[in-house]
Amino acid sequence: MKITGSFIDSLGPSAIRAVTMKIDAKAAAGIPVVSFAGGKPAPELFPVEDLRRLTDKIFEEEGGQCIQYAPSSGYGKLRGTLAEFMKRFQVNDAKPENILPFSGSAQALNSICRALVTAEDTVLVEAPCYTGSLDIFRSYTRNVVGIPMEEDGMDLDAVESVLRERPVRLIYVIPDFQNPSARVMSLEKRRRLVALAQQYNTLVLEDAPYSLLGFDGTVMPAVKSFDTQDNVVYMGSVSKIIAPGLRVGWIVGPADFVQKMVYVKMIDDLQVNNIAQRQVDRFFTECDFDAHLSRIRETYRVRAAKMVEGIRASFPEGCTVVEPKGGMFLWVELPQEMDAMEMFDYVFEQNIAYVPGSFFYPDGSGRNTIRLNFSTSSLEDISEKIPEMGRLICAYAAQHRR
Ligand SMILES: Cc1ncc(COP(=O)(O)O)c(C=O)c1O
Repeated sequence: MKITGSFIDSLGPSAIRAVTMKIDAKAAAGIPVVSFAGGKPAPELFPVEDLRRLTDKIFEEEGGQCIQYAPSSGYGKLRGTLAEFMKRFQVNDAKPENILPFSGSAQALNSICRALVTAEDTVLVEAPCYTGSLDIFRSYTRNVVGIPMEEDGMDLDAVESVLRERPVRLIYVIPDFQNPSARVMSLEKRRRLVALAQQYNTLVLEDAPYSLLGFDGTVMPAVKSFDTQDNVVYMGSVSKIIAPGLRVGWIVGPADFVQKMVYVKMIDDLQVNNIAQRQVDRFFTECDFDAHLSRIRETYRVRAAKMVEGIRASFPEGCTVVEPKGGMFLWVELPQEMDAMEMFDYVFEQNIAYVPGSFFYPDGSGRNTIRLNFSTSSLEDISEKIPEMGRLICAYAAQHRR
């Protein structure tokens, strides 16, 4: 029997997966590719020794309890630790009952959509926007509307004109070192976004996995920190600041909403990996998290700077690069007439990969943009391959003007 269904039939590999499949195929054929297409944190910076030591301690102290079934509301101690952690973003009033751990913020986002978004609902996203979130939103509604990004975040005049026109279920933002554009939402916009949500009675979903990755250590107040009327739900994650394989993320929201989300969580998978919640709790409270964070920031700062230098020196005239002040990505706008999607195979011929930026736009626009990742690239690869990529782009530009 062929197992079918309208939802499953609508699914296919994600847009970015199509790129990674090409890279995997070359790898399987023994052809090394230098990929700036990834989106992973640097594994050499994972605190393996600390986690090993903490895990031994957890087993010594708790025995089998740390891998037993546990409450869907999460590990109580971690909820308290995360409530405290939120002060880093000037969210000063969070209590354990406002916090709910999830299996990564991806699960949190899916569960929130499952709870709130129906097929006719409108969801506003930044354009460009993280593709993983776009895929989740699209699995619930056809009305995912991209709002253009400006230098300092989403164009809020455009947001307001949609809000005036029709009800909006939620507005999704990645305010810090956005994936993919590296942009940071200004303080003014954070305040105004919350005011708009209040005025038009809608919800802001703040996705903030990169907020602590500012190269100079600057941490912006969360959008949530301006929320006085429960119009913002915050999503955090340890994926980029400890390790993604732990699968620990969390939401911060009003206590009654959080309690309802516990019921959604019970439907999805009962509980977050029990031992991972303990590892995260102890890493935050017993290890030198700030020293660890400084190592990540410094490593990424140096890699990003090298990449910007290479781009400025070698990419064709008319390219603009958003110089990242943190995070893991770098965003390049090629001259308007160029098509980064069509150019992909030309560059990939020489075993260099990037992500065409149009994947990040809900309407498939932005064809002259590309996202480059610097967190997992060595300085040698960046120094050698970014100028090579620049030469290839120049050659392509000379041959193919749209
Ligand atoms: C903006 C954004 N949100 C969420 C995620 C997924 O995070 P998690 O590993 O916590 O599910 C990513 C991963 O790249 C991301 O870039």
